[in-house]
Amino acid sequence: MEGINFNQYGVTFKGSGSYVPGQILTNQKISQKVDTSNEWIQSRTGISERRISSVEDNVTEMGYKAALTAIEMTNWDIKTIDLIVLATSTPHDLFGSAPSIQAKLGATNAVAFDLTAACSGFLFALITASQFLKGGSFKRAIVIGADQLSSFVDWNDRRSCILFGDGAGALAIEATNEFDNFIGFDMRTDGGRGSFLNLPSKKNKGSIVDEIDFLNGGFSPIQMNGQEVYKFAVKEVPLILEKLLKKMKYNSDQVDWLLLHQANQRILDSVGERLKIPREKILSNLEKYGNTSAATIPLMMDEAVRDCRIKQNDIIATSGFGAGLSWGAALIKWG
Ligand code: ACO
Repeated sequence: MEGINFNQYGVTFKGSGSYVPGQILTNQKISQKVDTSNEWIQSRTGISERRISSVEDNVTEMGYKAALTAIEMTNWDIKTIDLIVLATSTPHDLFGSAPSIQAKLGATNAVAFDLTAACSGFLFALITASQFLKGGSFKRAIVIGADQLSSFVDWNDRRSCILFGDGAGALAIEATNEFDNFIGFDMRTDGGRGSFLNLPSKKNKGSIVDEIDFLNGGFSPIQMNGQEVYKFAVKEVPLILEKLLKKMKYNSDQVDWLLLHQANQRILDSVGERLKIPREKILSNLEKYGNTSAATIPLMMDEAVRDCRIKQNDIIATSGFGAGLSWGAALIKWG
């Protein structure tokens, strides 16, 4: 599915926010738990530490705090927010966490719902919300990416537990009929390769009465084929970004920032090299937070907006990718 061009309404970016839990799990501390080392993790991934939610923190709390800081950057009355989309694979409530965030914010006139697409979730949610704005249905939206993968990591599996952390990020976007800063997008899934990365339900059979059985709720820890996910990312992400740039008639040297899902520094470097985007234009904070799934893109964006690296009218090429398999790209202009 590909994006349509600006016709009646466009999207403008009004605010960003983020939140990370206080507990810091360093590589040194992980090596007390599994057979690994700071050197191995840093050289293979670029990660030094990650944040871990305590039992008081959850996706609703983190998403609420990120959304609130994004709203504070705008001059909005909270009652004027029409839409809240929460991208998460680890909701506090499987029936949906977005309405709880709506209630905590006091955004009583908004409709709020969850969207699940793993590490592509934030991008898919941003595209979804932007379509409501471009279509004229809603004026103001909050898009949140929040995940708490620490609850689903196998902390005895050194091949995956080193990668993940918890956090949340959010963007405040608004419809305008003057211009469109959501330049274009593309999104893809391939369920045929879905077995490379899963957080599957447990096959835990229960019985209601003698002849009627059922599947007990609950999930097995994350299962990942790291090498296959790596190969998928370094192949598909440059392709989708190249195609999008070409379609929107942009050259890679017009891109001010490459903002990829923060999975592995080697993936970021490889995509940058392929697109001929120099290292200083590749945004990266995975050293501090690891892979926070749906949160990585808005978490990174908020950091770069607040420290004034991202400036008004900067062009950002962004891509999310991960389980599903799913991947997507968007070309946006900040502001
Ligand atoms: N510490 C020390 N040694 C390790 C560790 C570790 N933490 N993990 C694996 N090893 C060992 C392996 O056992 C293997 O040893 P062997 O050769 O004796 O068998 C060796 O290191 C090499 O293992 P590889 O799996 O080939 O290591 P690789 O260089 O591929 O790095 C990694 C592994 C970091 C997981 C990489 O493949 C990767 O980043 N893949 C992408 C994963 C990803 O991004 N997943 C999230 C996607 S987003 C989402 O939707 C949630």
